[in-house]
Amino acid sequence: MQAPDASTNDRTTTTDMIKAVRGTRDILPPDTALWNHIEAVVRDVFRAYNFQEIRTPIFESTELFARGVGEETDIVSKEMFTWEDRGRAESDKGQSLTLRPEATAGIVRAYIEHKLGDRGLNKLFCIGPMFRRERPQKGRYRQFYQIDAEIIGPSSAGSESPARDAEILEMLATLLDRLGIDGWLLQLNSVGCANCRPDYFRALKDALRDVAPRMCSDCQRRAVTNPLRVFDCKVPEDQPIINNLPTISDYLDQACTQHFLQVQEILQALDIPFNLNSRLVRGLDYYTRTAFEFTHGALGAQNAILGGGRYDGLSEALGGPPAPGIGFAIGEDRLVLTLQERTPPESVLRKPDVYIAPLGLGMDMQAARLARELRRHDLAVELGDQNFRLKKSFEAADRAGAKYILIVGENEVKADAFALKNLATGEQITVPRAELVQKISG
Ligand code: HAM
Repeated sequence: MQAPDASTNDRTTTTDMIKAVRGTRDILPPDTALWNHIEAVVRDVFRAYNFQEIRTPIFESTELFARGVGEETDIVSKEMFTWEDRGRAESDKGQSLTLRPEATAGIVRAYIEHKLGDRGLNKLFCIGPMFRRERPQKGRYRQFYQIDAEIIGPSSAGSESPARDAEILEMLATLLDRLGIDGWLLQLNSVGCANCRPDYFRALKDALRDVAPRMCSDCQRRAVTNPLRVFDCKVPEDQPIINNLPTISDYLDQACTQHFLQVQEILQALDIPFNLNSRLVRGLDYYTRTAFEFTHGALGAQNAILGGGRYDGLSEALGGPPAPGIGFAIGEDRLVLTLQERTPPESVLRKPDVYIAPLGLGMDMQAARLARELRRHDLAVELGDQNFRLKKSFEAADRAGAKYILIVGENEVKADAFALKNLATGEQITVPRAELVQKISG
C-alpha cells in the first residue's frame, strides 16, 4: 500500500464513510450477550463430554483445503479467499495461502503435526470465524462463525466405532435442547467408504451419462471429475434429474451397513429422533459413512444449523497416520438467528447492578474507591462524574439500565453511609458502607 500523499490529504473535505465489507458484519451489544451466552452453554456441554479446546490459525496453506475438502467442491473451487504470500523469506515467497473456510482440515493438520493421538487428545473443539465467498443473504455471510468439534484418533482408541457417531449426535441433541431450540430435525445418511464407492460411482456415472447434457455446466463437469458433487447442485431445473439418480444408500457394503445400523440403534435407544435422507451427501469430499445435518424451519432457505459426519481417510489424505474421525460444525450465526426470538439478547445481557453518582468536588475519588470495593465483590458498577448534576446522573443511570443509583456526596462520605435508590421501585434507603454489597446484591 502507498503512504497517503500529505499534499492531497485535505482533512477539511468530506470523505465517503467506510463501511463493513459486503458479507461481513459487526456483532453489537446486546447481541454479543446472546453470543456469549451460547458459547458459555456450549463450553459447559463440551466439558461434560470431555472435549478440549484447540485454536488453529485463521489462514493455512491452500493445499490443506484442496487436499482435505476437495478440489471439485464448491468451497474450494469457488468460495475460498486465497492469495499468494509476499513473505520476505525465500521459503514463504509465492506460497498460496487461504483464509480457512472450515475448521476440520486445520484441526486434523494440527492433530498430525503435534501427534495429539500419542497424547490422548482425541476430542477437540474450536470456536471462531470462517470465510467463504458466497452470495450474502439471511443466514449466509462471507465471514461467519462456527462451533466445531471433532473426535479423532487411532482405531485402538475406538474412534471408528458407531458409538462415537451416536455420542456426537446425542451431544448435539442435548446442546440444542439445553439452548431451548425446539423444532430441530436431524437428517441422517451413510455415504459409504472407499470400498463401496467404486460400484456406486460406476452406477452414478452410468446414470449421469444420459442426463448430464441436460444439466448445468457445473454438473456436466462434475459428472466426469467427481460425480458425488452433483448432489450439491442448487440449480432448480436440475433437481428433478438429481432426484432420479441412484443413491449411495443402495450400494453400502456389509461393514458400512452394519455401522450405520448400529448408529441408528443407539439413537433409538436414546430417544433421539432422526430422518433418513439418502440424498444427503454433504458438500465436502472427506466424508465417509455417517453424514448428518440438523435443520430448523425458522431459518428459511439457509436452514442447516449445523452439519457434520465421519471422515475416516482424512488424516491419511493429509499425510498423517490412520486416524478415523467424526465431527460437526454449528453455524453460530444461524444458531443465534434461531434463538433470537425465544431468548431476546436483553434477557441474557448483564446490566450494571449499580450506578455510582459522585456529587461535587473531590467525590470522584470517593466514588472510585467505592466502585473498586463493589467490583471486587463481583458487582457490575457504572461510574458517573462529579461534574454531573444529580438529574444528569439519574438520566445516565437509567440509560445504563442500572438497578440502583448510589449517591456519593460530602455528607454521605462523612457519615460513611450512602443514599441507595432502587430505580425501578423508587424506594430510597440509607446504607452503611459495610452493608452496601449485601443490599445491592440482595
Ligand atoms: P458445512 O456444512 O460446510 O460443514 O458448515 C457447517 C455449518 O456452518 C453449516 O451447517 C452452516 O450452519 C454454517 N455455515 C456454512 N457456511 C456458512 C455461511 N456462508 N454463512 C453462515 N453460516 C454458514 C463444515 O464446515 C464441516 N467442517 C463440518 C464438519 C466438522 N464435518 C466434520 N467435522
